Amino acid sequence: MKCCIVTLGCQMNQSDSERIRSVIEGMGYAMTKNEEEADLIGVVACSVRQKAIDKVYAKIHRWNRWKNDRPLITFVSGCILPADERKFLKLFDLVFRMNELPELPSMLQQCGIATEYSLRHPLEGMERQDERTDFWLVDPAYSSAFEAYVPIQNGCDKFCTYCAVPYTRGREVSRASADILAEVQRLVDRGVKSITLLGQNVNSYGLDKKGKEISFAELLCRVGEIGNASDKDFWVYFTSPHPRDMTRDVIEAVAGYDCLAKQIHLPIQSGDEEVLRRMNRNHSMEAYLKIVSDIRELLPTATLFTDIIVGFSGETEAQFAHTAALMEKVEFNMAYIAKYSPRAGARSAKWEDDVSPQEKSERLARLSEILKRTSLAHNQAMVGKAFRVLLDGKDRRMEGALTGRTEGKLPIRVLDASEELIGTFQEVEVTSAAELSLTGRLVK
Ligand code: SAH
Ligand code: SF4
Ligand code: F3S
Repeated sequence: MKCCIVTLGCQMNQSDSERIRSVIEGMGYAMTKNEEEADLIGVVACSVRQKAIDKVYAKIHRWNRWKNDRPLITFVSGCILPADERKFLKLFDLVFRMNELPELPSMLQQCGIATEYSLRHPLEGMERQDERTDFWLVDPAYSSAFEAYVPIQNGCDKFCTYCAVPYTRGREVSRASADILAEVQRLVDRGVKSITLLGQNVNSYGLDKKGKEISFAELLCRVGEIGNASDKDFWVYFTSPHPRDMTRDVIEAVAGYDCLAKQIHLPIQSGDEEVLRRMNRNHSMEAYLKIVSDIRELLPTATLFTDIIVGFSGETEAQFAHTAALMEKVEFNMAYIAKYSPRAGARSAKWEDDVSPQEKSERLARLSEILKRTSLAHNQAMVGKAFRVLLDGKDRRMEGALTGRTEGKLPIRVLDASEELIGTFQEVEVTSAAELSLTGRLVK
């Protein structure tokens, strides 16, 4: 019998999905990528924009039609807003939250799965800590042999006015640092080359357990110590930090350890003071620019990525121009730019979505132009130099070439590299630069 899991959204969902898969495989299912041959089929949903949730409805309507022809059990988990959850309860056989993951076998049994499956509790024999975090005790079925996500925190307390996450993932809760460090150590021992610590606000790690847990900067130092004590090479990333909690000791920690990758993803969302205030980001432009200057000072080789929303409710042309000016000034290596999409339940949904779709597209295009220009200039300065690259796959568009990433997470096409090198670090000389990518060859 086969199971197919469709995962939408960000790395948090990718990571949750690896644990769902592990529980379902433990029951005896084989995984398939083909929806049509699955007996059990599920979606890990994302609610960050309307488009993502529309996809879930399209899928379940299709799957429910298949039920006329064959037995099929459907489930949904992930980030779901309450209004959608009420509808999903009628459309899916099972709706569950991640903290209920350990009960998945018995919940599926109630949906009527075949009796030959193992209903053993996934945490049998383990010491339970907290029902909000016990699901992290499930050993994930990692989807890559050399890159791994390690969740350190779930939920969000920031309540940015546009954002669905606090209503889908609930309040912030930190995972026990001992468990995080044990998972990192296991991955390092296994030879994993890239580890990403995950959370909605990684740098507010531990604040929900003040006095009982270490801080994010301290957590980074302990991870750094694992690197110092090991003879293995690996890069550790984290995403996303919030500017409000980005204290200098976090940047100092990254600077202090070789295994902590010199790449920072720091969402700004808008370059306008008033828009930031209405987004409830709770920091000034000055504070953001101070963090950027700390990063430039302490991590001179680091690349800088960001997230931006264009066309937020009430965003004027002049306010948008401040975001464009910020991009010119900071020269991001990468920016994930999204058009504002009102989310039911979030505070801004009550405000008028008054920037037209055309205007949003136009603003997005203008920011992309700036991004391409500044990132090209940065990439051109890398030509002729050698960098360490983690080779991560075959290049789909060029026979005989591999794809990889630099420590700063810049994508690079590596010519004349053979497939056995996938999953290894190699020295690569950059031979040419494009707007958001590089090309190079192995240094022999
Ligand atoms: N915790 C992170 C972001 C989580 S959501 C942070 O604080 O930055 C990921 C990204 O989706 C956000 O950075 C934002 O750019 C985008 N996003 C969130 N809500 C959105 C909305 N309603 N419309 C458009 N983009 C949105
Ligand atoms: Fe959403 Fe803001 Fe929380 Fe990020 S910090 S998840 S944008 S509410
Ligand atoms: Fe989407 Fe949830 Fe991530 S809403 S962006 S999957 S935290």
